[in-house]
Amino acid sequence: MALDIVIMAAGKGTRMKSALPKVLHRLAGLSLLEHVLHSASTLHAQRIVAVTGHGAEQVEAAVSAPNLQFVRQSPQLGTGHAVQQAAPLLHDEGVTLILNGDVPLIEPDTMRALVDACAGRHLALLTIVLPDPTGYGRVVRSGDPVGGTIEGIVEHKDATPAQRRIKEVYTGVMAAPTAALKRWLAALTNDNAAGEYYLTDVVAMAVREHVGVVATHAHDEAEVLGVNSPLQLADLERRYQRRLAERLMEAGVRLADPARLDVRGELLCGQDVEIDVNCVFEGRVELGDGVRISSHCVIRNARIEAGAVIHPFTHMDGEASGVRIGPRALVGPFARLRPGADLGEDVHIGNFVEVKNSSLARGAKANHLAYLGDATVGEKVNYGAGSITANYDGAYKHRTVIGANVHVGSNCVLVAPLTIGPGATIGAGSTLSKDAPAGQLTVARAKPVSLPGWTRPVKAPKAG
Ligand code: UD1
Ligand code: MG
Repeated sequence: MALDIVIMAAGKGTRMKSALPKVLHRLAGLSLLEHVLHSASTLHAQRIVAVTGHGAEQVEAAVSAPNLQFVRQSPQLGTGHAVQQAAPLLHDEGVTLILNGDVPLIEPDTMRALVDACAGRHLALLTIVLPDPTGYGRVVRSGDPVGGTIEGIVEHKDATPAQRRIKEVYTGVMAAPTAALKRWLAALTNDNAAGEYYLTDVVAMAVREHVGVVATHAHDEAEVLGVNSPLQLADLERRYQRRLAERLMEAGVRLADPARLDVRGELLCGQDVEIDVNCVFEGRVELGDGVRISSHCVIRNARIEAGAVIHPFTHMDGEASGVRIGPRALVGPFARLRPGADLGEDVHIGNFVEVKNSSLARGAKANHLAYLGDATVGEKVNYGAGSITANYDGAYKHRTVIGANVHVGSNCVLVAPLTIGPGATIGAGSTLSKDAPAGQLTVARAKPVSLPGWTRPVKAPKAG
């Protein structure tokens, strides 16, 4: 059965009190609409139609998905009016699934179950029983409030006191046979408390036409919660993070505190991984067996191999080119690894050391206050405190190549392009602007001068 999906995303989101359209606010690193699109894409619909309105240009520029098309709704006259705008793009012979752009955590399985319940001929509603149903559309059933036949949805504003006591609510998600849906949409009116075209009025129309109306249920409340305010956004973020933390712990990851973890992307962990509190993982991060991440680390797009230890307050930003930390490497505290940092086995990077677009081979060490940019560093190099590669001449970047077993003394400036041969020693305080030969001591600094008999100036005694 052919499937089309409509995502309603035209609303203003007044309660966010933000210049950013609501569906572009981020949860776990992705916009709300991207979450919905990612889940929707797994259903392989022949068409996904996003209805945009408020901030339409910004929304349309910010998201993409296979088979995605946009339609504009202006002005926004209600959820029924929103789906009316999408109707011309929907295929008559199939089923249409309607989702909300501001309900980000709906799971693909829940969507599939709803489409299956529709079976090409029923109107299927996703409902949930809430202890506090205030504000939601109530599912009105005949007779038994749980098992009775569905007669319609009544919006909170339009509900009688008795209807307001109904705890089964409509989540805003439905699946309908497309041809019938189009017929019902064309017949909607705005004769209600809000003066809007309610999509939910199609339920009573289906009942009148003797089309079966069925309900499926979301397993988890978080799946159907919408975002209307910064408070709700933060609440949903914590629910999402909690669920993710539980999945990691079920897989054996030891989190010091599941409430103090933030994953804004994908975190893949081997066996016996330990993560201390307040770490943020962004993009794609892989942690090998036995990796330990200490507290307060921010790690984006990085692969950290088995047995490596990352000390507190380390910042890794792999951006597009990634960061790799080799097996048993020690990094931090207070280290900064930028795109293209590639540390081999047993490499040590200590406090206040910055590494960018540089590789360090096995056993190399830069333990204090140093910069390595555009450098190739050989095995067992010792890179002294305060030393830097001067890799940028104001127009171009140049490489520094440091051979194996080189000892770079403290506070050196290595002016690139530059090659230091294997086994060389560079004297502390050198500004090196030409290559240094292998195996020798190279010193590039003024010789110390001592002046015998020199005296320090003294103040003249005050007159009188
Ligand atoms: C809707 C349902 C209600 C349900 C609730 C679940 C209707 C009439 N009511 O109410 O039964 O319990 O969702 O959260 O459908 N939108 C547009 N264009 C518009 C209006 C809304 O695109 O003209 C979009 C919004 O951006 C949002 C979605 O539709 O993504 C839902 O709209 P919203 O105003 O939040 O509907 P509710 O009043 O919450
Ligand atoms: Mg809503």
